[in-house]
Amino acid sequence: MQTRTLGHSGLKLSTIGLGTWAMGGGDWKFGWGAQDDQKSIAAVRAAVEAGINWIDTAAIYGHGHSEKVVGQAIKERRNDLIIATKCGRVWAGESREIGKCLRRESIFREVENSLTRLQIDVIDLYQIHWPEPDDEVEEGWSAVGDLIKAGKVRFGGVCNFNLAQLKRAQAIHPITSLQPPYSMLKRDIEPEIIPWCAENNVGIVAYSPMQAGLLTGRFTKERAAALPENDWRKRSPFFQEPQLSANLRVAEGLMPIADRMSIAVSQLALAWVLRLPAVTAAIAGARDPRQIQETARAGDVELSPEVIEEIEKLLRQRESELQ
Ligand SMILES: NC(=O)c1ccc[n+]([C@@H]2O[C@H](COP(=O)([O-])OP(=O)(O)OC[C@H]3O[C@@H](n4cnc5c(N)ncnc54)[C@H](OP(=O)(O)O)[C@@H]3O)[C@@H](O)[C@H]2O)c1
Repeated sequence: MQTRTLGHSGLKLSTIGLGTWAMGGGDWKFGWGAQDDQKSIAAVRAAVEAGINWIDTAAIYGHGHSEKVVGQAIKERRNDLIIATKCGRVWAGESREIGKCLRRESIFREVENSLTRLQIDVIDLYQIHWPEPDDEVEEGWSAVGDLIKAGKVRFGGVCNFNLAQLKRAQAIHPITSLQPPYSMLKRDIEPEIIPWCAENNVGIVAYSPMQAGLLTGRFTKERAAALPENDWRKRSPFFQEPQLSANLRVAEGLMPIADRMSIAVSQLALAWVLRLPAVTAAIAGARDPRQIQETARAGDVELSPEVIEEIEKLLRQRESELQ
């Protein structure tokens, strides 16, 4: 497994990280349907066995559940691993309604809860989950800086920030990493954000690199129709027409390329995200050991310029279908 250095941090991340959103289960607004904790724990352990050295979670995933599962799974291996989690989405009371808060006291409270659930003393990478509310970005980012000084957190990152928000945060203290969505089907960060991160030595850890399962070669229209109500993908435009057919046609188009390279479509999707040196790592979500055993191997796949152009052609076709 190759590694790349995350921004200015000196942390050497395996180019594939493990994403644990789905491990939060189905019992909340953005769940992925029912999830078996034993499978989740086995997936975390399989990831580590496969050479993955960092895990991404968030307080809000299953309202703390994903962090608890990760904490349980990594207990014996904590010192070998880089643990990234997130703050800024809170929940309270019986309704468990999700709030958006970047107030200092709230983030200070959140960090203690995450440390407890993860059963660790320090968070390696603490990320603001969403830049919301926008007028609290400065307060939240300053709070993350204070947590670094207090030794609760080693490095600070942000997710889902636009260029203006990145610049506002960078003026307060250096951003270690940005976690944006990035896949063949979602390329918004290419024109401005990737160059800015490269110029400012801000690492990029790309989320949903397989577009939540669509780019694995295993997703089908039948599967989309059968998604349970408590799987957020049921409500996502990527999984609905007219996008669904166009997206699955891209996945079908990837199959002969992957076959020729003797790799899986999921590995091709991840290697494509990693083709840019400015991308430090791709976060591969998994719900069982088999999935991550497969995707971890993408860390060693290199794409030729011819393959990259072949993929561009598929993506241009999709664009014109959706116009
Ligand atoms: N910061 C943020 O706002 C944010 C937002 C989104 C995600 N993230 C992070 O990024 C991580 C990755 O993104 P993601 O989970 O949304 O999407 P992803 O990595 O593109 O896709 C993960 C999903 O694809 C399916 N899959 C994975 N490996 C497979 C394989 N080998 N064969 C077939 N199917 C496979 C699984 O779902 P099924 O088996 O159910 O199809 C899995 O849950 C998350 O877990 C989370 O840590 C962060």
